Amino acid sequence: MFLKILEKICDSKTLTSLIIKFLIRNLDKIFQFKVYTLLKTNATLRPNYTYCVYYAALLAKRLKHKSVSIIEFGVATGKGLLFLESIAERISKEIKINIEIYGFDLGSGLSAPKDYKDLPYWFQSGFYKMNKNNLKKKLKFSKLIIGDVNKKVNDFLKNYKHAPIGAIFNDLDYYSSTTNSFKIFNSSNLKKYLPRIFLYFDDTVGTELEMYNDFSGELLAIKEFNFKNKNKKITQNQNLISTSNEKWRYQIYFFHNFKHYDYNKFIGHKEQKNIIDNMNK
Ligand SMILES: C[S@@+](CC[C@H](N)C(=O)[O-])C[C@H]1O[C@@H](n2cnc3c(N)ncnc32)[C@H](O)[C@@H]1O
Repeated sequence: MFLKILEKICDSKTLTSLIIKFLIRNLDKIFQFKVYTLLKTNATLRPNYTYCVYYAALLAKRLKHKSVSIIEFGVATGKGLLFLESIAERISKEIKINIEIYGFDLGSGLSAPKDYKDLPYWFQSGFYKMNKNNLKKKLKFSKLIIGDVNKKVNDFLKNYKHAPIGAIFNDLDYYSSTTNSFKIFNSSNLKKYLPRIFLYFDDTVGTELEMYNDFSGELLAIKEFNFKNKNKKITQNQNLISTSNEKWRYQIYFFHNFKHYDYNKFIGHKEQKNIIDNMNK
């Protein structure tokens, strides 16, 4: 009940909400709350990352996997990857599942935009360079994969013995790079994937200068992917947007592979029992 009230208060941009979140974040350093509490109160610095990793780990667990893979496309200075490591370590302990993390990046910052679809009015070559050696020293267990995703994604699928992919953070900025990164869904070895994958798209909600839209950037890449694929779809996570005005909640999508051997496996035992028990009360 207390968490429900806290959840409601934190679900806004009011000063009270910001103060409470700040307090929870700092108290967490001493008390180490459950990740679920941090999730429900939007209290971590990257609630979008926390949400996707937490629920990907939970889905993997329900499907009886021992490990799950998390990918970040577009690492830059590594703030996202470092956050991922810290939250994944906690989620891993709580849910009792091993979490692997892979970060893909050119290393040299953005290349030149190919055409208007890469939004050159907002992105330019050389932006967001990585200090590779510095970042490598800070990372504990994530693997950095340096090079163009166009080639590196194929290499990854072919050469890495990774756990099934459960969440992907898409932050490559360009339409062209995002489209190429979708090759990650191409392997015929379905053991490489959960049947449903949590996705975050950074460049889908922005400002009046960014003007993200269905005809360029990440949104166009998603639209084309859905057009080309009959049994694999990328669709916005609807259950988050009805309950919040937090920006990140409009940037979470689900990948569905209707032909995955685990797609129809029932995973709702506990929750459905509660629903049915309530109906019969
Ligand atoms: C906005 S930054 C990522 C920021 C990071 N996700 C964070 O939250 O701190 C975008 C990154 O995408 C990378 N990138 C863009 N196109 C790429 C491509 N085709 N292959 C690999 N990396 C690419 C760039 O090198 C750049 O560092």
